[in-house]
Amino acid sequence: MPALLIDRIGELTTNVPELGTGVGGRLHDAAVVVEDGRIAWLGPSAQAPDADERCDADGRALLPGWVDSHTHLVFAGDRTAEFEARMAGEAYTAGGIAATVAATRAASDAALEDNLVRLVGEARRGGTTTLETKTGYGLTVADELRSARIAGRHVDAVTFLGAHLVPEGADPEAYLALVTGDMLAAVAPHVNSVDVFCETGAFDADATRRVLAAAAERSLATRVHGNQLGPGPGVRLAVEHAARSVDHVGFLDDADVEALAGSWSGLSSRALAADAGALASGSGTVATVLPACDLSTRMPLAPARRLLDAGAIVAIASNCNPGTSYTSAMAFCVATAVLQMGLSVAEAVRAATLGGAIALGAHVDGWTDPAGVPQPRVGVVAPGARADLHLLAAPATTHLAYRPGVPLTAAVWRSGERVV
Ligand code: NIG
Repeated sequence: MPALLIDRIGELTTNVPELGTGVGGRLHDAAVVVEDGRIAWLGPSAQAPDADERCDADGRALLPGWVDSHTHLVFAGDRTAEFEARMAGEAYTAGGIAATVAATRAASDAALEDNLVRLVGEARRGGTTTLETKTGYGLTVADELRSARIAGRHVDAVTFLGAHLVPEGADPEAYLALVTGDMLAAVAPHVNSVDVFCETGAFDADATRRVLAAAAERSLATRVHGNQLGPGPGVRLAVEHAARSVDHVGFLDDADVEALAGSWSGLSSRALAADAGALASGSGTVATVLPACDLSTRMPLAPARRLLDAGAIVAIASNCNPGTSYTSAMAFCVATAVLQMGLSVAEAVRAATLGGAIALGAHVDGWTDPAGVPQPRVGVVAPGARADLHLLAAPATTHLAYRPGVPLTAAVWRSGERVV
């Protein structure tokens, strides 16, 4: 692959404070050189070395591609009517998951794959370069396995969510035994992590523990959907089991916030951003907030400001799915986090890039994609990192919140290859 120079960058966000200024490690009038899919050099534009190809950023802002660490993209069907009912005042209850399970089971492999490819393309056009997605709309061994296989062909990380809901008509104890037994055994070679929806009406604390323990026995990383619809044990169980992330976190008490903050004690912000190796040995749990989901379900916005102030690591993800958050637009999530959750633009951008990478374990060199191929770290613009870059049609990342809803993606590179 020929070396590429992107120069005359008006504002470069690296997410590495030591490389620039502030939380975003920003540089101005900067340049980046990409070689063999990785960042080879960055610095002042005036000192940039020659390369085979050149892209003139013309004063625009460049940042790491979005790392969307929470989506549910393997599904069929549409839940417009449920959304309309919600906007007319009905509460979200998670009961609609069953409708998507029925549609997904009835769909052909080709239909599921086409829909997934459509959504991955949509995400790329919005600047997303690393995507996680979950199973969880199959809920039989065969349907979960095919969901994992289809996902693994198109995304960077696959999460097994057999513990999404007990299927209609199933005995809860027998289903839990299936999820932690034969179903997990079937999908394990195809997934990066295991998730469980810990919520009243889904999986209680005991069931959640059993799912997390079964995953740990197979040395799979864990995630938890926690505290989405009300207060509950999700956050504390996630932290106790050293889950990579607990996602939603809308209803937190003081102990929850403390648990998330304490999980990373001893790691300075310098270690967080600059010394990814230090993080690799941490046993902490990232708090993933899902602003578009909070809005679409008319739930209170997750307390991202409070979590950051307490020292927790926060990720922002889209939660793209047909029920609670039918959007892949990370820029919208970032704008919401700034305008309504009280984050600065640099904090929100970091949460939607490096934060997501940490939640996926992709902030360190050598993390593996679903095919087992080692990858350079993502979420930062730093020498050696994967060249996942997002050029905005704007001079500063501030425009993501200053001009909400305006499509600002001008170009996207993934592993150094121009994809948008
Ligand atoms: O993350 N909370 C559970 N799972 C999804 C919603 C799935 C659905 O309603 O289809 C979520 O919001």
